[in-house]
Amino acid sequence: MDDKSIKNIILSLTAMFLLLQNNIAQVTPYKYQINKKAEGKNGAVVSAHPLATLAGIEILKSGGNAFDAAIATQLALAVVYPGAGNLGGGGFLLAYTANKEMIALDYREKAPSRSHRNMYLDSAGNAQTNLSQNGHLASGVPGTVSGLFEAHQYATLPFEKLILPAIELAEKGFIITEAEARNLNNARKDFIRHNSITPVFVRDIDWKAGDTLIQKDLAATLKRISKKGLNGFYRGKTARLLVKEMKRGAGIIMRNDLRSYRTIKRQAMVSDYRGYKIIGMPLPSSGGLLIQQMLGMISDYNVSALNYQSPEMTQLMTEIERRAYADRAHFLGDADFIKVPVKKLTSPQYLKERMNDFIPGKAGSSTTTTHGIIDPESEETTHLSIYDKWGNAVSVTTTLNGNYGSKTVVGGAGFLMNNEMDDFSIKPGVPNLYGALGTEANAIQPGKRMLSSMTPTIVLQNEVPLLVIGTPGGTTIPTQIFQSLINLIDFKLSLEEVINNPKFHHQWFPDMIFYEKDFPSTTIETMIKMGYECKQRGPIGRTEGILIKNGIIQAVGDKRGDDHAEAF
Ligand code: DON
Repeated sequence: MDDKSIKNIILSLTAMFLLLQNNIAQVTPYKYQINKKAEGKNGAVVSAHPLATLAGIEILKSGGNAFDAAIATQLALAVVYPGAGNLGGGGFLLAYTANKEMIALDYREKAPSRSHRNMYLDSAGNAQTNLSQNGHLASGVPGTVSGLFEAHQYATLPFEKLILPAIELAEKGFIITEAEARNLNNARKDFIRHNSITPVFVRDIDWKAGDTLIQKDLAATLKRISKKGLNGFYRGKTARLLVKEMKRGAGIIMRNDLRSYRTIKRQAMVSDYRGYKIIGMPLPSSGGLLIQQMLGMISDYNVSALNYQSPEMTQLMTEIERRAYADRAHFLGDADFIKVPVKKLTSPQYLKERMNDFIPGKAGSSTTTTHGIIDPESEETTHLSIYDKWGNAVSVTTTLNGNYGSKTVVGGAGFLMNNEMDDFSIKPGVPNLYGALGTEANAIQPGKRMLSSMTPTIVLQNEVPLLVIGTPGGTTIPTQIFQSLINLIDFKLSLEEVINNPKFHHQWFPDMIFYEKDFPSTTIETMIKMGYECKQRGPIGRTEGILIKNGIIQAVGDKRGDDHAEAF
């Protein structure tokens, strides 16, 4: 027996011992329940899937910190939540450590070296969104595995231990939830269309809740990562399988693209809102900037004098969202490639002026209200929130973009590739999967990162974490977080209300207010009278939040999905 096998056995025995010691031996991947709310004093994890949350909380209980738990939870999500948890995608990790350091890791996908700005236009110049949204050509170079290893420098346990739950879940299987069964059945045709080697997600009969999903190829990939680190993914067998898969489907990701992928450590965006410090992700995520803009615009208004979800409040927020998203479409993209006037876009003076044409009681228009004037300057993603007993807060949003990404599984390696190229503006004026418009700033360029809406957020009160929050939902993400912050800070709602109450969204174009089913109908009727077009839509996002107050750590998972909270 070699050293490695002995090490693995010791790790498995330790894991078993810990399970028994913590008296959760009854939790198995073949029998688990969803828990929406949990409280404790020592740590909390909330994510989109019970088994991923449990992987994270076990790591915290065994002495790991929030970074250890974030790595274990993300890896488990890549197995148990294949629609968005991923190895073949990317994401952003935002953290505030016990010693008051802000960390912003950008492991967003990048455009392959052979990409070019018109790659999704046909010979007549028409945009082919089928190619940017599905199949091999839709993928950017994946960043997740790089991001996990970058995060590991802040962790305390060996990577082999953090990846173990994911390996076991992939190898031995786990039972799927009703939502997962439904999603897999819905994507069946797409899986068949976009793969030449049939993935495990396709079988002859429909999936149903309680069926076991085993992913042997994925387990083998995870083992290569466990053994060889970054090289287990970006080089060697996994990289070869990925490049081969690309060739089978006219994709353009090359070995060199994989080898040269790097996570970028960025400066977090920090602003003040009514005495609270709001920490957000900088570009190429638009999230931090949009939150700063929206909170900046609303800060001059006496919000608590308006009623929660009243027409006045909804209109004010809508008009603010309209203006922020008009700026997003015009100015925002990867700031390593284009000049983005971030300072000006977030300056109090500019934000005040943006609201000059706001008329209370009368609908604005996206045709007349466009981006601000600036002088040249000198449905599927997933979020997890974690807090540990030392005071480290970690907020991660990660994605393949659409549900199950490009639908292409790397043959022999068992993981899904992203369809993140669609987050670029593939042609000015052509909306992407989320209806977002873009221009030059977000045009495709080799090596460039596509603009994102992902908004992992941490709020500090007196320099210590109060809230760790984030959500999926494409372009609705920043407006959801905007609402969550206002509802917590101005309206003093509980964390459960902040997360579960109905939400609404406006993104400049389409010039329309989208709202969830239970949003007050009297407000919607008044908004229509003011001249707004309003449309009910399905659930908006799946927020995962942790609130730390008076020494109690409270975690809440969104009611909209299988989201699961644990604390101890
Ligand atoms: O980065 C972005 O903005 C998108 N790729 C996020 C996609 C997403 O949230 C899907 N979830 N429903």
